[in-house]
Amino acid sequence: MASEAKVGVRRYENYINGEFCASASGKYFPVIDPSTEEIIAEVPEAGEADVNRAVAAARAAFDSGAWPQTTAQERGRILFRLAERIRKEAASLAELEARNSGKPIVEAEYDIADCATCFEYYGGLATKVLGFVNPVPDNAISLSLKEPIGVAAQIIPWNYPLLMAAWKLAPAIAAGCTCVLKPAEQTPLTALVFAGFLAEAGLPPGVVNIVTGFGETAGAPLVRHPDVNKIAFTGSASVGKQIVKMAADTVKRVTLELGGKSPNIFFADADFEAAIDGALFGVFINQGEVCSAGSRILVEQSIYSKFVEAMAAKAKTIRLGAPLDRETKMGPLVSRDQYERVNSYVALGKTEAKIAAGGERPAKFAKGFYVAPTVFYDVDNSARIAQEEIFGPVAAVIPFANEADAIKIANATPYGLAAAVWSRDIFKAFRVVKALRAGIVWVNHMQPTYVEAPWGGYKQSGFGRELGPFGIDEYLETKQVHINLNEQPIGWY
Ligand code: NAI
Ligand code: MG
Repeated sequence: MASEAKVGVRRYENYINGEFCASASGKYFPVIDPSTEEIIAEVPEAGEADVNRAVAAARAAFDSGAWPQTTAQERGRILFRLAERIRKEAASLAELEARNSGKPIVEAEYDIADCATCFEYYGGLATKVLGFVNPVPDNAISLSLKEPIGVAAQIIPWNYPLLMAAWKLAPAIAAGCTCVLKPAEQTPLTALVFAGFLAEAGLPPGVVNIVTGFGETAGAPLVRHPDVNKIAFTGSASVGKQIVKMAADTVKRVTLELGGKSPNIFFADADFEAAIDGALFGVFINQGEVCSAGSRILVEQSIYSKFVEAMAAKAKTIRLGAPLDRETKMGPLVSRDQYERVNSYVALGKTEAKIAAGGERPAKFAKGFYVAPTVFYDVDNSARIAQEEIFGPVAAVIPFANEADAIKIANATPYGLAAAVWSRDIFKAFRVVKALRAGIVWVNHMQPTYVEAPWGGYKQSGFGRELGPFGIDEYLETKQVHINLNEQPIGWY
């Protein structure tokens, strides 16, 4: 099999029941480097047969009882060993992540470090899952026990490939679930390298299975599979909606993280330089391919012109370059599809608003899916570029008159993942924090993300929370146990 791969193109395999294997069809599909558009690897094109095998392995590992009955201490130690291994291999993982996703190597290094931290966090949390004693009024002991949900199917996107795998696998392992993970078809490589760490860390076969393939042919069969108990999904709102419908037939537990159109709100009293930096960081980090991107930049009228000018001037200085160049601040977008999608929004934006930066393909690149940091201003909040998730380096700057106006505009989208507010007035900042309908709100910053703190959205940005103690809860069922302490018959009849 391996000999059939093109010279220089590494062939990766699925990971099912503790073994690397081809897909049942024997088909592979190419994985590209978005900065060169060259094929760097090929991975199995999993279909329903492979999904069935992976789910059967996960089901058997769960139902045999061996895995859910492993002690929490042991599950925690496995997670610590995985964290240690990730740290040991951090340099090569970061390089592979940058090559496959297009993100700058320096950002990829942060991501890989965050992966290790995530496994450490849930390694520690494994032994801290507590139930309750319920204060029932009878001569009885009533307990609420926390138990693993069972088999979790985890479908992840391409913007933070290994980190999204970590956010989903670590709490599931800590909880005692078994998993089938489907990476995004664009970026499956680091997850498959990570699969090679599992057995050595002591994870029994079948607990984590990884299949690579496309949404409709590998993702959908996973969602429909009757032996899967829970779906954890991060991706587009349209696929999220399909997943809820597909999962309904078997009443699966579902958690969804569907991105957004997050407002980054700047009052006139904010520190001006920090504000400009925060506006750029909020929307252009990771090429703007961020679910919580601050893509709507709301600016108080009295500083608006100055703000647009300063933001555009600084946006033009952002260094685009090859992902592996340590000076690069912005790499190419992940794929030709995404490049075309984002460029179509740039073209649309030119008809909906004024442009202060970007809007043309950066001249210095002959190849690669590069998009210049683009700033639209005088954007009406009802414009499509203000309402639809673009998922690229495109900012929509919108003026507002006062606090009430800012809140109204900020909340006027179907999404509610994140928001940020910049002001030196803590009373005003907190009034706005409370009025924002979003799952994550930053004050005088945008984007810092911690494994200790919950992550997830309001409204159509999804439901359920990842990270922190909330993240493990989504992999647990609650069992009520009643222990009668009366030795007499009930005496009813
Ligand atoms: P997508 O939602 O199609 O892909 C995300 C994951 O879902 C991938 O693993 C994909 O294979 C899987 N998937 C796709 N169709 C499926 C189906 N019918 N059943 C089960 N799984 C399925 O996202 P795509 O097409 O890559 O990007 C389109 C847009 O989605 C982006 O422009 C962006 O706006 C948004 N997006 C949001 C993300 C977020 O973090 N919230 C991440 C990725 C994309
Ligand atoms: Mg899609």
